[in-house]
Amino acid sequence: MVISDQDLQYFVTTLKNSSKYDFSEYSDKSLKRRLQKVLTDFNLDITGLIAAIKNKPEFTVNTTELFRDPQVWHTLRSRILPRFKNNKNINIWHAGCSTGQEVYSMMILLNEMEMLDKAKIFASDLNTDVLEAAKKGEYKYRFNIGYLDNFDKVIKQNPLNYEEFNDVPYEKYFDIDKPRDTITMKKQLTEKPIFRKHDLVKDGNLFFAKFDLILCRNVIIYFNYSLQNKVFELFHKNLYNKGILLLGMHETILGPWANKFEKMGQAYIKK
Ligand SMILES: C[S@@+](CC[C@H](N)C(=O)[O-])C[C@H]1O[C@@H](n2cnc3c(N)ncnc32)[C@H](O)[C@@H]1O
Repeated sequence: MVISDQDLQYFVTTLKNSSKYDFSEYSDKSLKRRLQKVLTDFNLDITGLIAAIKNKPEFTVNTTELFRDPQVWHTLRSRILPRFKNNKNINIWHAGCSTGQEVYSMMILLNEMEMLDKAKIFASDLNTDVLEAAKKGEYKYRFNIGYLDNFDKVIKQNPLNYEEFNDVPYEKYFDIDKPRDTITMKKQLTEKPIFRKHDLVKDGNLFFAKFDLILCRNVIIYFNYSLQNKVFELFHKNLYNKGILLLGMHETILGPWANKFEKMGQAYIKK
């Protein structure tokens, strides 16, 4: 089924009026693509979807994984985090953290680099269901066996020297319970981050802290140009000088904020 502009408008307006979600500044193209998928997956038409949303107003794309895009974690390990090695403190904000895998990946890497003790970890998302899951730090095992692969690539192997192998046991950071089909983060990880509900569209900085590093990966891809600029402004304002914003693999800063950052791959250093 093809979604017309009129259908899309109807969907956005109804959602705005009947729930706390306002997608009016999201990009039409990506919203249409996501909508198309939801309609096909659930075999609904647009009116049926709106009725379903009224009963359960959660409509965000929450896909994530442990050490998602391992090459980005290699860059964090070799080029980004070492910049903060001599800092007394390091403040990190995961904006759009979903179910928390990115947050736990960061803490595991920081711990391996002996930097976790001085780190303050802040994490936020619009969707309170995913935040509850993030706080719990419990994930399906069978469905997520790829997490272990990613862990090996980032934590055990050194991509610059394959001879080197760091035999870090998984149990140092999480328990795998095959009969229960769970991977559960250790308590020393789950109790550290400050999780907060936060809407990047409407809210400012709710943490009353400035940041050395902000990760906002695979979130702004759903925003239109003007909303992206609003978010870049928020991040720029709340980063320390030389602080770093890390975006997703398919996200870039274009427009007025581009020259306020120096680009280093997916990372943007505040000028
Ligand atoms: C695809 S997930 C990305 C998770 C993680 N950053 C990663 O890259 O694996 C996108 C997350 O952004 C959140 N999100 C979408 N719009 C948002 C908004 N306006 N404010 C805060 N979070 C938002 C969604 O709820 C979802 O959990």
